[in-house]
Amino acid sequence: MRVLVIGATGFIGLPVSQALVRSGHVVYGLTRKADKARQLQAEEITPIIGEYVEPAKWLTPSLVGTLDVVINAVGAEVRLADPEADVRVFKTLLEVAQQSRPTHAPKLTHIFTTGTLAYGQDPREVVNDTTAIPLEKLADFVKPFLNLEQDILHNPALNTIIIRPGFVYGRSGSLLASLFAQAKEGNTIKRYGAPGGRLNTVHTDDLANLYLLAAEKAQLVGGNIFAGVNDSTESVDDILQSLVAISGAKGYEYVEPTNPFEAAAGFTNILRPYLGRTLLGWRPVKASFVDHLQIYFDSWKASSGTA
Ligand SMILES: *[C@@H]1O[C@H](CO)[C@@H](O)[C@H](O)[C@H]1NC(C)=O
Ligand SMILES: *[C@@H]1O[C@H](CO)[C@@H](O)[C@H](O)[C@H]1NC(C)=O
Repeated sequence: MRVLVIGATGFIGLPVSQALVRSGHVVYGLTRKADKARQLQAEEITPIIGEYVEPAKWLTPSLVGTLDVVINAVGAEVRLADPEADVRVFKTLLEVAQQSRPTHAPKLTHIFTTGTLAYGQDPREVVNDTTAIPLEKLADFVKPFLNLEQDILHNPALNTIIIRPGFVYGRSGSLLASLFAQAKEGNTIKRYGAPGGRLNTVHTDDLANLYLLAAEKAQLVGGNIFAGVNDSTESVDDILQSLVAISGAKGYEYVEPTNPFEAAAGFTNILRPYLGRTLLGWRPVKASFVDHLQIYFDSWKASSGTA
């Protein structure tokens, strides 16, 4: 297959691109910088240099006309900086796909990344991939993202798959890297939320495998939402205790969030996904975050140049 990965050097996008290359697919990767382009080329990924917010410059008919799959894995910081950018990229993709593909070609597959905030924040109710939480129970800033996700999912012109990753760990660390950064300083680790919280985690390599399987079986599983998390949650208290033990941090404490994003970082939802397993045969194989915390902490230190 020919696949374009948007955000190909990112925390999710790079492992996804590598997994696709390893499985024999032809991969194009969008990146902003020339030095990252060389990194992609070294990985046998064909770089396309461009800004996410200017899709008309890189979603060209000559490229889109040849693709089977487009995976949008652009980083959250890019999307939050310009919430309209996702809409622009989606509209451009629709237009260019309609112009550049023969009418009888199978629909272009579009794998779009959102997140588990769509599952709300109820620490008692067990939810799964397909649970729809009423809008009024979601944090305000999540609502526009959920509406956009649903518009993208239900547009009939593309074969769409949504992946909602949870707390991704491994290598350079993502959201959980802030815990590592605090631990490394030897301070008291501060965490939003309250004791008893749980996290839906997933290793970046396991998540990459979910994207790969979804891309390969896209003609069978289009129209579905997959929760990209392991099927058992991890205790935040366990994680913090272990991190203190291995890092020399002074201890940890829970603090009050000062804005909705910090509050969301402390949410607990108990997610038991099943669609990845039943439809794609997906099974996370990595050790959990807490079980191999030392390896993940060392890997983060090495990849952030602070070992
Ligand atoms: C998924 O969650 C919904 C709503 O909570 C529930 O009705 C449904 O039975 C669940 N599906 C599975 C397979 O557990
Ligand atoms: C995933 O959950 C299973 C239990 O369902 C557990 O045995 C395994 O260690 C977990 N793996 C990860 C990566 O958390």
